[in-house]
Amino acid sequence: MADVIQNSALATAHRLRCIGCSAEIDGVDAPEDFRCRTCSELFEVIYPGLFDRLRPAEPMRRLWLTRSASTAPIDRSGVWRFREMLGFLDSESSIVTLQEGNTPLYELPRCARSAGVATLLAKHQGMNPTGSFKDTGMTAALSVAKQRGFRWVACASTGNTSAAMAAYAARAGMRALVLIPEGKVAWGKLAQSLDYGAVTCQLRADFDGCVAVLTEMVRRAPIYLLNSVNPYRLEGQKTPAFEMAEAMQWQVPDHLIVPGGNLANCSALGKGFQELLALGFIDRLPRISVIQAEGANPLFLAMTQNDGEQITPVRAETRATAIRIGNPASWRKAVRIIRETGGWCEQVSEAEIALAKAEIGADGIGCEPASAVTLAGLKKLTARGLVGANETVVLLLTGHTLKDPEYTIDFHRGTLLRPEEMAAGADAQRLARAPQVLDADVETVLRALEREERL
Ligand code: F0G
Repeated sequence: MADVIQNSALATAHRLRCIGCSAEIDGVDAPEDFRCRTCSELFEVIYPGLFDRLRPAEPMRRLWLTRSASTAPIDRSGVWRFREMLGFLDSESSIVTLQEGNTPLYELPRCARSAGVATLLAKHQGMNPTGSFKDTGMTAALSVAKQRGFRWVACASTGNTSAAMAAYAARAGMRALVLIPEGKVAWGKLAQSLDYGAVTCQLRADFDGCVAVLTEMVRRAPIYLLNSVNPYRLEGQKTPAFEMAEAMQWQVPDHLIVPGGNLANCSALGKGFQELLALGFIDRLPRISVIQAEGANPLFLAMTQNDGEQITPVRAETRATAIRIGNPASWRKAVRIIRETGGWCEQVSEAEIALAKAEIGADGIGCEPASAVTLAGLKKLTARGLVGANETVVLLLTGHTLKDPEYTIDFHRGTLLRPEEMAAGADAQRLARAPQVLDADVETVLRALEREERL
């Protein structure tokens, strides 16, 4: 085991490869906007030769598992306990961690029945320190920013990236600049950014407008860009794939279903599984499907209209504000992973999202609206016969239910959906449970209980 550790720990022999023209550059030479100077496409991190040194599987798996029981923060992190697979830092002293990752894989028995599959699991990335999957990527990319000596980090965000970035920057003693669309970020997320001391700018623009401003800013000022175009983010976000494989005794689910916004996370998880396959740690890939909201569906349109060859930006509108994105940066990476794993892209309506969120809540798990598109999408895939009743499916739940309590309360009060939306999804209000305002009197509350029993 000692050999394995010495040979592989935190090697810095990584390169960045352009996914468009395959040009390779050194990590330190990455352009500030993370776009290839030749073809404007995005980069991915590669580790020439590194994985050859990681075999055999058994000692590595044991080492990764053993680290969970250690008291060292980087061992307790569900990202850094797999550090042999993230060889892009010069030294462990650059690592900024909040002990992210190691999130639960829950069974969803009622949702399984509703979706018509035998085994349905939720990998709950909302159980991270700031309540979303962004923490796993942020620990990776912000550590790079620290190593490179940046004082400022920045992101454009629909709210979760900014919450995560603000927290990790505060831990590292760095300054954070947040650009968010005014009025379209859930309160829980805005509150976090303020709480962690970020300079928070609400721009009169949508997410795509915020991205445009930030992309120009990083070309002009020494600010490190932490949006998911930053390929190191995806190195952290691939680690839930390792955790899922580990939790399933190094088997993989038949199908993994991921929400799609800026379209980076699906490819990050796919990269994680592909690396495990290349190492021989697993023997097949799960299908990876991406689900979008109908009002923010550029990938769905591209896949159905031209097989994912070209994307046309849309004007995005959905109450699942986390994925209210019309011009997704990482769409080519998403198309590639859907093709390579044999998955699909689906779209779901506002009523379908609301019902699915309530169903996940009724299973005692809960999630934010953008995460619930996964269950809504699964139902469509089973109805179309694309997912079989005997399959094991994992839903990637990306954010905690407390991120957006306003949405939940509106749903249960019956004020979330417009009448025409409710008519389209008649089922959506079935699970609504409005709070009851009662006199503070035992008889009255007992009567309320009796009414419930009769239901
Ligand atoms: N789910 C949640 C809760 C999100 O916050 C996001 C993205 C996604 C899904 C989509 O992931 O962009 O990799 O396809 N949120 C970003 C943000 C855009 O700024 O917080 P993706």
